[in-house]
Amino acid sequence: METLLKKLFQANSLTGDDLLYLLNNVDAGTEQLLFDLAHKTRIKNFGKKVYLRGLLEFSNYCRQNCLYCGLRRDNRRVSRYRLSREEIWRLCQRSYELGFRTFVLQSGEDPFYTDDLLADIIAGLKERFPAAAVTLSLGEKSRHSYQRYFAAGADRYLLRHETAARPLYERLHPGMSLQNRQKCLQELKEIGYQVGAGFIVGLPEQGNEELVADLLYLKNLQPHMVGIGPLIVHPDTPLRDWPNGSGKKTLLCLALTRLLLPEVLLPATTALNVLSPNGLERGLQAGANVVMLNIAPAAIRVKYELYKGRVQDNVEGPALLEKIKTRIIRAGFSIDMGRGDHPGWTSNREKESSTD
Ligand code: 5AD
Ligand code: SF4
Repeated sequence: METLLKKLFQANSLTGDDLLYLLNNVDAGTEQLLFDLAHKTRIKNFGKKVYLRGLLEFSNYCRQNCLYCGLRRDNRRVSRYRLSREEIWRLCQRSYELGFRTFVLQSGEDPFYTDDLLADIIAGLKERFPAAAVTLSLGEKSRHSYQRYFAAGADRYLLRHETAARPLYERLHPGMSLQNRQKCLQELKEIGYQVGAGFIVGLPEQGNEELVADLLYLKNLQPHMVGIGPLIVHPDTPLRDWPNGSGKKTLLCLALTRLLLPEVLLPATTALNVLSPNGLERGLQAGANVVMLNIAPAAIRVKYELYKGRVQDNVEGPALLEKIKTRIIRAGFSIDMGRGDHPGWTSNREKESSTD
């Protein structure tokens, strides 16, 4: 066990069989070694820095019907909302003033926001805040649409692959295919985005084999960012009677991801914090180096209910920022409010301008 972990630490790679052996056989002692090696790897690449991102969930309408998600189209109990272009700009302005230099614009798959409107929103942000990075998380779109947002100035795109086990993917995502998901991720990379993939831990009928498939898919894709969180069951979804995912298993996956992709931007996700009051700290101690903070007013945030218990208090704005900063520092880390690009990344845009 120790030998395998050290091999992973040194080579940043391991076979599927070895990863499976690790997941099947970790005990308290080896688990601590895994967290320590992941921590060492993050310190080597990022020091104690934790990047903060401002997250704005601007629409909770969704045309998809993912079985686990509270925003799925068949859930009639959600009070749906959409923010206007001006509201989005204004909330980003406020978070810019608080020091954020990455805005993450997230929504369900909402066709109300046409490519024209999205390009306009993105260009407006880049014009007002040229020093800030714009990250999109809008689901599956055509290559052409991704291209347009990139041309308008978007820097990064988050699209979790959710699970790399095909039968599981197809059961959980009616009308969607893993193949198209992976195609989207490939296209986003080709266009020049910094790309984020990732998966949910604790899906029905997901065992360690399936998690190994996720880890190997990530190793192969080489994304710049990876989002991993436990399933948090939502009562108004078909998974209502299923148990939540395991926090511990999520931490193991975070640590393994840090070792497989040493330079990856890896958030300690909000879902992790729902399961335990110190989920954030434990995520950071297992190799995570990003925290995403909600910048919408609490009245809007409560409606973006991917899962229950997502909004734990109604602290907002500067008070929320201070609270999270304090927790991060107390856990032994430091705050970085910069853009926080992936260390190995130079944009196509920069490459083009440096050749002339
Ligand atoms: N529990 C945990 N994560 C969820 N997501 C959606 N619903 C849930 C849930 N019930 C995640 C998906 C999606 C991201 C925005 O939120 O992975 O990509
Ligand atoms: Fe829509 Fe995303 Fe929820 Fe699926 S996970 S229903 S695509 S918001």
